[in-house]
Amino acid sequence: MPVENMIVTPWEVKGEIDYDKLIEQFGTEPITPELLEKIRRHTGELHLQLRRKIFFSHRDLDWILGRYEGGERFVLYTGRGPSGAVHIGHLLPWIFTRHLQEKFRTRLYFQMTDDEKFLIRPDLTLEKTEYYTKENSLDLIALGFQPGETLIMPDTRCARTFYNMALEIAKHVNFSTGRAVFGFEESSNIGIVFFPAIQAVPCFLESMLTGEKVPTLIPAAIDQDPYWRMTRDVAPRLGYPKPAQIHGKFLPSLGRKEKMSASLPETAIYTTDSPETAERKIMNAFTGGRATVEEQRRLGANPEICPIYFYEYFLFVEDDAQIGRIFQDCRSGKLLCGDHKRSLAESVSKFLVRHQELREKARDRLDEYLVDDQFLEMLRR
Ligand code: TYM
Repeated sequence: MPVENMIVTPWEVKGEIDYDKLIEQFGTEPITPELLEKIRRHTGELHLQLRRKIFFSHRDLDWILGRYEGGERFVLYTGRGPSGAVHIGHLLPWIFTRHLQEKFRTRLYFQMTDDEKFLIRPDLTLEKTEYYTKENSLDLIALGFQPGETLIMPDTRCARTFYNMALEIAKHVNFSTGRAVFGFEESSNIGIVFFPAIQAVPCFLESMLTGEKVPTLIPAAIDQDPYWRMTRDVAPRLGYPKPAQIHGKFLPSLGRKEKMSASLPETAIYTTDSPETAERKIMNAFTGGRATVEEQRRLGANPEICPIYFYEYFLFVEDDAQIGRIFQDCRSGKLLCGDHKRSLAESVSKFLVRHQELREKARDRLDEYLVDDQFLEMLRR
């Protein structure tokens, strides 16, 4: 597969993604059948995102599970850069994280990098990132995260707790490593050059607050991996366990061969889109279909490049037998793209109506989840 155009950094994902190549380039491990079996022992039936290899790669997941089996706990850590509305791609790692929280009964540290988005997006003010922090938190609460064990931490509200640890981390990373890992340029502002130390902090937060050495597992799409490469190098020097990761694939956009991205709003479905808007976007989507109905009936379509099929595979069709049938029906020409789009639009619509209801209910519950320095200080032992 040609991968020359593939770019995967925390701030840019472009081109056709070759996930095997990423495992090689980033030096991560594939999730093997043995590891899946080990997970199954604790979770029962495997989550859709594991069964379908949407979470496909890891670092030290086997190690963290081994410790867990020996009676030691771990915590979860993931996050969001609150730069706008949440799209359904963002929901993927969060849905999976919620599953892990439920099965392993762990605390989740959820970082809102309002500082990061302020620094990299010329159009964003701190007032706006604060607004999106709250709006995006509603999406998390709507997904059913446990109150009390889910701490949503906006960086600007947790700065006092984060700053000293960020200094410790930053002191061990020189500019040339930062440039190699994150692609900083002469024109990068100096805030963003320091910022990776802030995203590293929650990897050590539970250990820092409790004085125990508690490892952290980070579920996220693989674009966030550069942060963890840097953090894992620093961890032993600070005497903390290296953070473990489980890496997910990207939900593609509704266009051709790109990940779902907020910078292409017509090809992304936001959790705040009305069902009509979502339907319009889906009806205008790229597909793996043929130019005419006659050709498609005769030659079949290609679900392997089709966002409509991917959305069902990643999120909207839970039943494995059913998704298998859909694949076959696309291939054989039995299922036409118009009908397929309508069927997806219906599922998405149902999902949005329910999610938006839960999202509105969550407005009164923000205080149960959003934390600040004072709250974190109370956890310190
Ligand atoms: P952000 O806001 O860019 O993305 C939030 C989460 O969504 C994942 N993601 C996707 N997953 C599937 N399909 C997609 N199309 C897609 N696009 C984005 C991202 O991998 C991420 O997990 N710097 C971070 C915020 C952050 C964070 C963390 C993320 C702080 N600490 C720890 C993960 C883990 C950011 O801007 O994410």
